[in-house]
Amino acid sequence: MSVRINPSILSADFVNFQREFESLDHADALHIDVMDNHFVPNLTFGLPMVQRMQQVSLKPLDVHLMIENADLEAHKFAECGVFSVTFHLEASKDPISTAKSLRSIGARAGLAIKPNTALDSVLELLPHFDQLLIMTVEPGFGGQSLIENTLNKVSSARRFLDSEKLEIWLQVDGGIDESNIEHVAALGADTFVAGSAVFKSDDRNAQIDKLRKAAELGQGHRHL
Ligand code: DX5
Ligand code: ZN
Repeated sequence: MSVRINPSILSADFVNFQREFESLDHADALHIDVMDNHFVPNLTFGLPMVQRMQQVSLKPLDVHLMIENADLEAHKFAECGVFSVTFHLEASKDPISTAKSLRSIGARAGLAIKPNTALDSVLELLPHFDQLLIMTVEPGFGGQSLIENTLNKVSSARRFLDSEKLEIWLQVDGGIDESNIEHVAALGADTFVAGSAVFKSDDRNAQIDKLRKAAELGQGHRHL
């Protein structure tokens, strides 16, 4: 299993995105947090900005939609040509149709759940998806501490994916840093979003390398 480190540009300088992107050369993908001030109490940017980011980014874009009405909106982000579009179960009435439309446009389809949403509610949907995102903080803001009890879902999800032989990526987002990434990887996550942990560092690429090494170490001693 390989490790992916996706810095969240929620912690970037919002008037210098292009320069910020260029400082993240060692990233696997750039995690783009779209917030509408309804689904979460924060506002970032919408479709025109993501379209422009897609034009200038040298890395694949991993779009995380924290918006209402995901079934109506998600396909528009896929149409920008981004690598992956993840929407929230809590904002969707028909996650399977939305996933199908994302895939038919050529994007990877991701399904996200908030900390209080049970894993059971998504298991049967997973064959339609390329990625499950387990939020390890309440979505809305960077720089929060990881909520420890969300990690039970990470280990249960890993057991389920392995037993069903589903090769979808298991992403975690929120409060991931050098103090916990090895443990979270050992529980079975393989795709790590890190905002403040990358951006607070003077050498972002070295920090990405450090996070990747720790995650690889964790994967090496998976708690089965
Ligand atoms: C929070 C966002 C995250 C956030 C993570 O709602 O989905 O992607 O930027 O930031 P850190 O890594 O600082 O918790
Ligand atoms: Zn995110």
